[in-house]
Parts: sequence; C-alpha cells; structure tokens
Amino acid sequence: MIYAVIAAGGIGSRMGSELPKQYIKIAGKEIIRYTVEKFSASQRIDKVIILCPEDWVAYTKELFFGINAAVISGGATRNETLMKAIDYIEETDGLDENTVLITHDAVRPFVTSEIIENNIDAVLRYGATGTVIPATDTVFDSADGEVISSVPDRSRLYQAQTPQCFKALRLRELYMSLSDSEKEILTDACKIYTIKGCDVHLVKGDVSNIKITYPYDLTLAKAILSTQN
Ligand code: CTP
Repeated sequence: MIYAVIAAGGIGSRMGSELPKQYIKIAGKEIIRYTVEKFSASQRIDKVIILCPEDWVAYTKELFFGINAAVISGGATRNETLMKAIDYIEETDGLDENTVLITHDAVRPFVTSEIIENNIDAVLRYGATGTVIPATDTVFDSADGEVISSVPDRSRLYQAQTPQCFKALRLRELYMSLSDSEKEILTDACKIYTIKGCDVHLVKGDVSNIKITYPYDLTLAKAILSTQN
C-alpha cells in the first residue's frame, strides 16, 4: 500500500500567526487543503493520512469531511509525527515490506503531480527518496557563527524539499536504532538514513515547491498561485 503522510503537526512559530500556518487561507482556501488535494488526486496513492496538532484534529476532520483521508494527532517533532503515522498504519491496516510512505509538508501546497509520481517511481525502485533543487545561493559553513569555516562546493549542494519517501518498516527500524543525541541533530527524515549510511535517491523538485515558513512566504504563495490559474 502507498500512503501519503501529510505532516501538519507543527504550530508555525516562525510565522507568528494566531493559528498554525497550515490553516491560513490563500485566495480563500486553507494551505493544507491545496496540499491534500494534490495527493488525493493521485491514482497510485491508496490512503492519505493527515497528522495535525491535537487541538486541531476535530477542525481538520471537518475540513476534510467527505475526502478519503484519516486525521490523527502528530508528535512533538516532525520525525515523531512520521512515527505516529507508521503506528497508525500498523494498527489499522498492518505493515509489511511493501508499505510505502510519501511524506510531505502540509505547508508545501505547490507540489506537482509530476513530482509526486516521480517520487513514487523512485521509492519503489530505490527504497528512499528526497526531493531537491540545486542550491542557488552559495552556502557558508561557520562553526561559531562569527567567521566562515569553509565554503562548500555549490555544485554538490541541493536544497531539500518534500516529498520524502520511505519504506515504512525500514524508516522505523533506522529511527529506533538512533541514539538520543543522534535524534537531537536530526533536521529531517532523510538524515535518519544518511546517519546510518543508507542511500536516499534524489528526485527533481521545483522552485515553486516552496515551504511556507515566514509571513513573506504568504506573499510569494499568492504570486505563485496567480501564475497557476
Ligand atoms: N511538523 C509536524 N510535526 C511537528 C513539527 C512540524 O508534522 N511536530 C510539520 C509542520 O506542520 C510542517 C512541516 O512539518 O508542515 C515542516 O515544518 P516547519 O515548516 O518547521 O513547521 P512548523 O514546525 O509548524 O514551523 P516552526 O518551525 O516555525 O514552528
């Protein structure tokens, strides 16, 4: 079975709005609704699971009433949210080697069907994927935040987006094998694989597949939306 796992368990502290940013409306529609619709439209996805803050479960269920999606509460970190999705699947449908997760940030509403399909193809072939675009800015590495330690070769650098796709059993097995200190330095789920020396296959993303993080991103999102209509 192929599951879309929509990570919506965050509160959007950097956005600074009174409601979690995934529920902010753009052109009259909630960000999370744009996102979920992209996954509901894929014929290859068997089920959509939305993980949101505990206090928002009832509201989210109402928002997606009539849509074939399960709504459950997320975890304390993004990776804990993904683990809750795996536990939910285990309890409801059971897990096996063919249980595949297409994990995606609820706040990336401009993911395309092509990116989703390419991720599904790649995870079925390689077992784990990360969506990326080539880094546009030069990136400085600074150990102390005061001076540059090194300037990595930009031709090898990529900006991570989502979807990131995994075999559910493998993701959980690797996550469980991490020490507490390894878990603390995790920034995203792909790092669970790289820490353990496991390959994650790159899938081409798109510059429009932005993550809405700061208030300015809402302006950007409106502009992107206007180019798509
Ligand atoms: N997320 C999640 N569970 C968490 C934390 C984050 O599912 N415990 C989700 C967010 O809802 C978001 C995605 O992961 O869709 C990307 O995270 P980010 O942009 O950092 O969202 P927030 O954690 O909400 O934002 P902030 O860091 O500004 O508080």
